[in-house]
Amino acid sequence: MADGGAPAARGSSRGVLIRDDWPGFPLHLFSFPKHYAEDLECVLIPHGIIMDRTERLARDIMSDLGDHDIVVLCVLKGGYQFCSDLVEVIKALSRTSERSLLMRVDFIRLHSYLNDQSTEDLHIVGPEDLSILSGKNVLIVEGIVDTGKTMKALLKHVVTFQPKMVKVAGLLVKRVASGVGSLPDYVGFEIPNRFVVGYALDYNEYFRDLSHICVISDDGKRKYKV
Ligand code: IMP
Repeated sequence: MADGGAPAARGSSRGVLIRDDWPGFPLHLFSFPKHYAEDLECVLIPHGIIMDRTERLARDIMSDLGDHDIVVLCVLKGGYQFCSDLVEVIKALSRTSERSLLMRVDFIRLHSYLNDQSTEDLHIVGPEDLSILSGKNVLIVEGIVDTGKTMKALLKHVVTFQPKMVKVAGLLVKRVASGVGSLPDYVGFEIPNRFVVGYALDYNEYFRDLSHICVISDDGKRKYKV
């Protein structure tokens, strides 16, 4: 499926590397909602593997930030499932280990995609006032970083509220030539430059109700195009 990736210092890891020639798992080997039967090409990352990787990221975050107070800033809508699962694991670790992490959770909603294309406009749909972040340790949690434009713009916005520290956790980072931003501090998987859906990642609001991360098919793109 993928490289493990060379062990790297946290803060620079590209996560689990999924190669360009990885064909994915055939759909029929997994369960998925039948309404998407014609709309997907393959399962790129099964739900169970996402959960296992999330557990490890939560441990890394705990060991770096444990005993601090943090504000988790969930980037909606694509980051909601990853954020929810990550927070659950951190909560469990806080209950069961010596160290604990006091978390507040807040949400920001961004919009920059139409069909499968990134648009130049980044809209912060709400809330724009993030003064709650002033002087705080902030962990931004995002589902996918593609060109990095969204994250760059969001970071620029967040620092205007003068947080004490900002870290970013991204479940997926796409391997794109035009990538602009820097890598998130915590990366789940580095994936090929293909349009993926599921686990809260959407194509025009569809596919959030799919547990695995899958590659959308051309039929799927046509069917749900706006
Ligand atoms: P960027 O600004 O190019 O990094 O785009 C980031 C945003 O684009 C993410 O927050 C997603 O909303 C969306 N996005 C980029 N690639 C995908 C994809 O493959 N599937 C679903 N959403 C994507």
